[in-house]
Amino acid sequence: MKKSVISLMVIFVAIISITLLSGSSHGARKKRPPHHEYGNVVIDNFSRGNKMSPVVFNHWLHRAKYTCRLCHADLKFSLKANGSKITEEANKKGLFCGACHNGKEAFGPDGKGSCDRCHSYGKNEQAKNEFYPFTRQFPRARFGNGINWITAEKEGHLTLKDTLSGKSGKREQRTAPGDSVIKPDEQEMPQIIFSHEKHALWNGCDLCHPEPFQEKKGSPKFTMEEIIDGKFCGTCHGKVSFPVLDCQRCHTKPTILER
Ligand code: HEC
Ligand code: HEC
Ligand code: HEC
Ligand code: HEC
Ligand code: HEC
Ligand code: HEC
Repeated sequence: MKKSVISLMVIFVAIISITLLSGSSHGARKKRPPHHEYGNVVIDNFSRGNKMSPVVFNHWLHRAKYTCRLCHADLKFSLKANGSKITEEANKKGLFCGACHNGKEAFGPDGKGSCDRCHSYGKNEQAKNEFYPFTRQFPRARFGNGINWITAEKEGHLTLKDTLSGKSGKREQRTAPGDSVIKPDEQEMPQIIFSHEKHALWNGCDLCHPEPFQEKKGSPKFTMEEIIDGKFCGTCHGKVSFPVLDCQRCHTKPTILER
């Protein structure tokens, strides 16, 4: 009992220090970003070096229209900020942002101030879609974007496109396995119910298999600290999906102490 209370405290301290530290290493992320900035990514591999302002990509608007799978599997965007090494030339060829920002699916790089709409870091660009009016009707949550995205989709506030013609290949239709109960190492912690169905709706299978998870129950073993560190469930939770601070949204199933 004593040991677990101590390790819970260690984890809380780790969480607090990580939320404080993350402000210094990520341009877009502060201690606790406000709802409208949560999930924003500043992309700057080449911009500043070419006398352009870095690019600000917002997840909240894009995830209200498309699945994670479409961008991160079919369009091959990296699940790490600045990992894709996007160039203007690739965009013009219809890759990355240019798969949509081509003047058809969405505005393209057609002069007329369009450069600044993407290269907006540090500028006072007026967005066409503003967070608060756009999300006013959405069901709320406490953390992250302050939106319960699962309920928002279920209640029909969002229609998610999962394919883009010419970009999405044929794929094998697979059924998601049923819910798993994941048991934390600390018995005092409520257990986690992992819903394959809810995840597959957004992520398909490819964003989790074969990396970071094997298609095998209880494998690999991972810890809460690794999640906080951005691994396993933390690949998405804490960056784009609701953050790790929202303990009760994962640890939902009360445990009866076996000892
Ligand atoms: C739909 C969004 C979008 C629009 C519109 C856009 N860009 Fe970019 N651009 C990007 C992204 C993303 C990168 C990669 C940024 C990085 O890594 O620094 C990039 C990179 C660049 C670079 C870096 C070097 C290179 O050649 O790739 C230059 C220069 C550039 N853009 C110029 C422009 C100009 C000029 C316009 C307007 C005609 C424009 N961009 C419009 C998204 C956009
Ligand atoms: C319209 C395309 C698009 C959609 C939809 C999308 N993403 Fe992304 N995502 C991106 C881009 C672009 C980046 C930045 C990649 C880069 O910098 O190379 C990114 C980055 C990320 C990162 C890394 C962030 C960081 O700070 O390191 C995560 C995690 C992520 N996305 C998860 C998701 C999840 C989960 C969803 C669905 C809820 C989603 N994305 C939907 C385009 C998208
Ligand atoms: C799968 C399609 C898709 C991809 C990929 C995509 N976008 Fe978009 N984006 C859209 C759509 C649709 C809109 C909404 C356009 C509108 O409201 O007119 C949009 C809007 C935007 C806006 C305007 C926000 C506003 O309200 O003014 C910016 C900035 C933007 N995207 C940047 C990017 C950047 C940067 C990338 C690549 C890193 C990217 N997008 C990739 C579809 C996409
Ligand atoms: C968000 C991440 C995620 C997504 C998306 C995902 N999985 Fe999984 N999958 C897991 C995790 C975590 C486990 C291990 C679960 C456990 O320990 O019980 C797992 C285990 C499995 C297993 C073995 C255990 C079992 O219950 O049979 C199969 C089979 C599987 N996944 C198939 C799929 C298929 C098919 C899809 C797409 C329809 C998919 N997964 C999408 C995370 C994911
Ligand atoms: C590839 C990205 C990704 C990974 C990895 C991932 N999730 Fe999620 N998860 C999501 C998305 C997207 C949602 C939708 C809600 C949101 O984005 O805030 C979600 C929602 C959830 C929900 C909310 C269900 C509800 O009914 O409200 C729980 C619980 C959850 N995830 C637990 C986990 C656990 C536990 C793991 C690790 C075993 C995990 N997730 C791994 C993307 C991911
Ligand atoms: C995204 C889902 C998610 C969130 C949010 C989350 N946890 Fe966990 N937690 C897990 C999973 C999955 C495990 C099981 C890891 C394993 O297999 O042992 C776990 C395990 C634990 C453990 C057991 C020790 C260990 O490393 O296994 C503790 C203690 C814990 N979590 C505390 C917390 C606290 C405190 C919070 C909130 C500040 C929190 N968790 C938020 C998913 C989550």
